[in-house]
Formats: sequence, structure tokens, C-alpha cells
Amino acid sequence: MDIRLDYTNMMASAVGEEHGISEEELEALRPRAEEIHRHLMKRREGGFLPFYELPSNKKQVEEILPLAEELGERFENVVVLGIGGSALGTLTLFRALRPLYHNLMSREERGNRPRLFILDNVDPAGFGEALALLDPGRSVFCVISKSGSTVETSCQFMIARQWMREAVGDSWRDHFILITDPLSGNLRKLAENEGFRSLDIPGRVGGRFSVFTPVGLLPLAAVGVDIKGVLAGAAKMAEHVCREDLLQNPAYLNAALQYLAYKKGLKISVMMPYSDRLRDIADWYRQLWAESLGKKFSLSGETVHVGPTPVKALGTTDQHSQVQLYMEGPFDKVVTFMAPNDYGADMTIPSFPSSPALSYLEGRSLGELIHAERQATAVALTKNGRPNCTITLPAVTPETVGALIYMFEVQTLFAGGLWGIDPLDQPGVEEGKEFTYALMGRPGFDKKKVEFDRSIHGTKKRSL
Ligand code: PA5
Repeated sequence: MDIRLDYTNMMASAVGEEHGISEEELEALRPRAEEIHRHLMKRREGGFLPFYELPSNKKQVEEILPLAEELGERFENVVVLGIGGSALGTLTLFRALRPLYHNLMSREERGNRPRLFILDNVDPAGFGEALALLDPGRSVFCVISKSGSTVETSCQFMIARQWMREAVGDSWRDHFILITDPLSGNLRKLAENEGFRSLDIPGRVGGRFSVFTPVGLLPLAAVGVDIKGVLAGAAKMAEHVCREDLLQNPAYLNAALQYLAYKKGLKISVMMPYSDRLRDIADWYRQLWAESLGKKFSLSGETVHVGPTPVKALGTTDQHSQVQLYMEGPFDKVVTFMAPNDYGADMTIPSFPSSPALSYLEGRSLGELIHAERQATAVALTKNGRPNCTITLPAVTPETVGALIYMFEVQTLFAGGLWGIDPLDQPGVEEGKEFTYALMGRPGFDKKKVEFDRSIHGTKKRSL
């Protein structure tokens, strides 16, 4: 496998026994790992974990590519309306696999592809500014919601729909593609009743595991991402992350390292890519890890309140922001560095004769500097007894990023087994949603409104 997980600095031999992991601890986890593996494979065979098979689903690629081509030719702006798992994977792959300033380039420089906007919030200022920037006649909206009922996406859709109708008249429906559950939800009903074009998100594929479905693949293909390459990389990784042996499976091993570190009190998991292209993978992973593993109840119904807290950082930028804390603050973090071996470009540092203090940099390169800073930070953390590991990929390509995403998805499922919780649900967000419905006047939520009012009026207000 081209992707390497170097976990030397996670081990007690590198960072000491108090926070480092011993060979015995890893060994002791092996039988449990085998049990979780068998359980996952059984559920997979039973069709309960269809995300495993997405990389080899040729049918969906055949359906997506012609539509993506059409959108790419007809439109100047592809706009994703979606939130959480319906937006973050697309953002991550777009950032990694198109030029960083894609949207600022001319159409020709973009390879004759549209721009991509991912609108994942309902901040009226932000949403309004985005619409103001777009030419409606040259824009297509991908409205993405697995449940088809997410309030944020529904409101964005309602506003965009009216905006488009007013601008282009009768043809407004051609400017929307709905991507949603094949059978249920409001969006599905709209697609059927109002004749919108639509694509299916396969059943039992949850939001945060859905980037290899039309959720991510359609908008990404439309703007020129090589989705076949992404899926090929994921399929290649599938061979490695389906191995039973904990020590031979990078997804299982990484989950086990995080789990053992958590058991030693290192409950914060920092992901720190040293790469602008990989920056948003930390954002995507933060959602995947937090929503999947932060749980109140175990699978057997005990109250457990578990879950590592994922934190995102960017090297080298956050060396000047967060690293002081990682180095000397509480012993509660494990840091995962991530970097390509080859950045795909380099810049030589020229001489600066009037400043002899800088002459040591002359002839070196930015590539050397970013590598040096990552290695230096890892060694300094290790010296301070702070566990850390490093994931390297040969370069940022569709294949390597697809592989990485797939590895993290399997890692998360396996981690759910280690923590003994269900990584596929998110019951903790329901309460907040229900209070929102109550405040927005949704029928059937009157009691919730009473509960809300009681809760805020029954508490002594404190503010300054
Ligand atoms: O991972 C998840 O399930 C969530 O983050 C969802 O993606 C998010 O809540 C949006 O849901 P939906 O796609 O149903 O609009």
C-alpha cells in the first residue's frame, strides 16, 4: 500500500510508559479486534453496511458521468445545498483535487469546467452574498439531503427555488438536481411530484459515509474531479482494510492506537495535515469521528458518555497557534500528522545578500522546509512524551485521497466496536432539532415549545 501509517511515536518505547502504548497492550487487543472484524463482515454480508461496496459500484458511475458532463458544459456554477455529511466530503475532495484557487480561475484555466460553491449554512448574510454573486441562468443547484427533511437544506432550497423562478421563469426546474433517499423523505416526494431530476443515495448509507455516492460524485465530476480515480483508490484500500489481523490492517490499527491512547487519558485527537490540499480532510474527519463515536449509551444500553474529541489543525500554520498547547499543555492529546511525500510543485528559496542571517536558507526549497517543520514538530512532541503518528501519501492524487477517505471510514466503524457503541446513529442531535422545529412553528411540536419556554423562563438569566 502506498499510504503509510508510521506509529513509532505512539509507542511507550518512544514517549514513555505513562502515555505511550506497549506491544503487550496492542497484542492484548487482538482477540477483540478479530471479534469486531467478524461482526463487521457479517453485517456487511447481510447488506447492512453498503458503504463498503461503493467503490466498486460501476452502475452509479455510469449514471453520474453523463449528467456531470452535461452540467459541466451547460453551467458556470455548480452550487451544493447540503450540510454535514451532505457537504463535507465534497468540500474535502474539491479542495484536494482541483487547483486551490479553482473558482478564481478563468473557465479555460479550469479546463472548461464550472466553479463549485458549497453552501452549508443558513447564515442569511453568507447565503445572500453567495446568491448575489451567482448568475442564475448559468447556475445549477445540487440539493442534497439523505433524509430529505433537514431544515437548513430545505430553507436554502425554498429560497433558491424562488430566486431562480424569478430570474429565469418557466425553465427554473432545469436548474435543480435533487440527491436524496430513493424511497422516503420530502425531497423524494418533490422529485416525483414536481418532476425534478434526481439521483438516489443508496439506502443504509448514512450522510457521513456517503461521499462515494452521487452526494459527492456528481458535483465533483461536474467540476472536473477524476471520480473514477477516487473510487479506484478506495477500492485498492478496501483490500487492505478488510484484513482480520489488527497489525496488518491500517484502519483497525489506527483505531486501536487512538482507543488505547484514549484509555490513557488522551481524549483529544488532533489531525494536522501539512498540506493546503489536505486541509479539509481534517474537517471531514472531525465530523466523521465526532458524530460516530460521541455517544451516551453503549450497545448494551449502559450509560457510558464516551468519545474522543477531534480537533483540526493545519501545519505549518498552526505551529504558530496550537503547537505550544500540544507541547506543554495537559497530557490529553494525540496528534496525527498527515502529508504527501511529493507536493507536486516546489519553489527554491533565492539568495538575499543584504541579509546574511537568512543565507542558510539559500538554495533550499519550500518543500524541504514544510517536511522539516513536520518532522521537527513530531520529534519535539515525542521528546516531550506526547504520542503522535504520521500518515504519508506519495502525492495528493484522486487515488490516494480516495484511499485515505475509505480507510478513515472503516477505521471509524471499527472504532465504534472498540468503544462498544453504534457509530452509525446520531441520537444526540435530535433534541436540538426538535426545539428548533418548535421555535419555527412546525405542527406537532407544541409540547416542545412549552418545554422550551419553561426551560428558559424557569432559569434565572445571567448576562453582562
Ligand atoms: O452524517 C450524518 O448523518 C449527518 O451529518 C447528516 O449528513 C446531516 O445531518 C445532513 O443530513 P441530510 O443529508 O439528511 O440532510
